[in-house]
Order: sequence, then C-alpha cells, then structure tokens
Amino acid sequence: MSDSARTQPPATRAPQPLAICRAELADESATSALAGALAPLLETGFVMFLSGELGSGKTSFARALLRALGHTGRVRSPTFTLVEPYNLSSFELYHFDFYRFTTDDEWRESGFDEFIGGPCVALIEWPERGAAGLPAPDLHLRLAYRDAGPQGRTAQGEAYSQRGLACLNAACAAGCCNSA
Ligand SMILES: Nc1ncnc2c1ncn2[C@@H]1O[C@H](COP(=O)(O)OP(=O)(O)OP(=O)(O)O)[C@@H](O)[C@H]1O
Ligand SMILES: [Mg+2]
Repeated sequence: MSDSARTQPPATRAPQPLAICRAELADESATSALAGALAPLLETGFVMFLSGELGSGKTSFARALLRALGHTGRVRSPTFTLVEPYNLSSFELYHFDFYRFTTDDEWRESGFDEFIGGPCVALIEWPERGAAGLPAPDLHLRLAYRDAGPQGRTAQGEAYSQRGLACLNAACAAGCCNSA
C-alpha cells in the first residue's frame, strides 16, 4: 500500500438512485395529483426526503399527501416545531423540518434518528441540514420553481429502494411524470 493510500480516509460515495422521474407541476392541483398517486404506496418504515428552496412547495406537497391519506385536520408547517406527528389509520407519520438545524450536533441530540426508518412513516423537509446522520431515503423528491408563472413547480423523484421505485412507477402510471 502506498503512503498516500494509508493516510487517506476511505472514500465515501453518495448512494446512486435506482431511477429518476421528472414531473411538471403547473399548479397546486398537479402537486396534489402527484401526492395522491404516491400516498397508497406509503407503509411503515418509509422515509421520504423533500428538498427545494424556501417556498418551493415541500409543505404543500406534505399537506396534499396527508389529505390523500385521510387526514382531515390542520397540517401545520413544522419549521418552528421541527416535527408534527399524525396518527393515521394505517401508521403514524412524522413530518419533520430540519431547516433550523445549524450543526450536526443539533441533529444528533434531537433523538429523531429513532423515528426515521422506525415503525412509522417519515417525511423530512430540508434533509440536507441533518444529512450526516440520515440514512438514504426510499424516495427523494426535489421541488423547484419553474420559470413560467408563479404557480409553476417542477419535481424530480429519485428512488433509492424497491418501494421508492414502486412510487415512481405509480406516479408515471397516474400520468404525473414527464420523463423517466
Ligand atoms: N405548483 C405548486 N405546488 C405547490 N405549491 C405551490 C405551487 N404553486 C404555487 N404554490 C405555492 O407555493 C407556496 C409553497 O409553500 P410551502 O410552504 O409549501 O413551501 P416550502 O417548500 O415548504 O417552504 P419552506 O422551505 O419555507 O418550508 C404555497 O404558498 C403554495 O400555495
Ligand atoms: Mg415547508
């Protein structure tokens, strides 16, 4: 082994998605349609990351997903509380928002790791803020503004597991995807 190989830390590679799909979300009803296509595929242990800049529609998507899962009450943004729990008929769902984490220590001390991949569904806004401690999700949805009009958004879905892949297939079957 060369000296440099001995002193270098092992290379860590970001996991590669099994598949990627893109969707144009012309307005909020398109966001709701996407959420409605994915909702039946969620099950205990499912982890979904929601990325995108401020106001790109992460909470709106989560709200539509919860509506599709039968939740009729309020859906508050967890930006200030960090997590909002929902006791749904099939499973518990925890809606996290890590925007306010500024260091990896804050994430580690939060104790949230118990819930992620545990016996519940986890939706995580701003996963980048807890990235060092987070496992790969089943599905990573990346939302972005679209140039045309204030309502336009785009979504890119990345599957990292077979059940994430099933979500992408369901979204495409529902006519939500523009390209795979
Ligand atoms: N196609 C669309 N899909 C979703 N939301 C849309 C769309 N078009 C416009 N909007 C609006 O964009 C806003 C998205 O706000 P939302 O709170 O969901 O963003 P966010 O990504 O969660 O932001 P933050 O990073 O601050 O948590 C809402 O006011 C919503 O009505
Ligand atoms: Mg939000």
